[in-house]
Amino acid sequence: MPSKQLRLGLNIDHVATVRNARGGDHPAPLRAALLAKAAGVDGITAHLREDRRHIRDLDLPLLKNEVDLPLNLEIAPTEEMVQIAVQHKPHAVCLVPEKREEVTTEGGLDVAGLKDRLQPLVKELMSAGCRVSLFIEADIVQLKAAANLGVPVVELHTGRYCEASGASRSIELDRISAAAKDAKFLGLECHAGHGLAFDSVKPIAAIPEIVELNIGHFLVGEAIFMGLKEAIGEMRRLMDEAVGN
Ligand code: PXP
Repeated sequence: MPSKQLRLGLNIDHVATVRNARGGDHPAPLRAALLAKAAGVDGITAHLREDRRHIRDLDLPLLKNEVDLPLNLEIAPTEEMVQIAVQHKPHAVCLVPEKREEVTTEGGLDVAGLKDRLQPLVKELMSAGCRVSLFIEADIVQLKAAANLGVPVVELHTGRYCEASGASRSIELDRISAAAKDAKFLGLECHAGHGLAFDSVKPIAAIPEIVELNIGHFLVGEAIFMGLKEAIGEMRRLMDEAVGN
């Protein structure tokens, strides 16, 4: 039986973080995205934050139009961000929770609690032709709320799994694995991401229902030591090994 296709999306936010440290245009996220395409990634992910601390508005048309890969734009569920997404029409839009003071996306979106606010935003994005995904914790309540909103995709937050060790990591893995099964049962395509690294990717990649991983900070960091192409190549090798390719 052929094994599943597991896509790898490179989140290039932290190329932009380094660029922004000096206010110029080096290193350019576009160049990283082109290199990543040559290294075999299946998509580019970028998070346009409210404070523009990494990706900026001007990066979006470049990433959308000059890289022949699907662009997955992560945004907070606000009317301002949705208008920007609708203007650029990326292939996919992933709605993520965002707090100004957080270092990174700390938890999943409370879809169940925010459903009334999310409904019109999801509708607007879907009418613009964007594939909408919701970044959520591996939790049946959130999955059911996502299915009720009619989105095609959820992305499961792997942060807690990556930070845990020993028995706690197994518990987190079981939670993600059960949620991936529930997602499939509810008719949702299942992606996963946050915090994944060489030492944590294989058990997540091996979950049959997960078809896409979005990985950023570790790959961009590892690129300093081994090069971006090599870091992507090694991540892909580990994913292939986990999937049985
Ligand atoms: N997926 C989502 C929805 C995210 O918000 C992020 C971080 O921006 C990632 C994946 C990638 O996480 P990391 O940079 O830790 O690999």
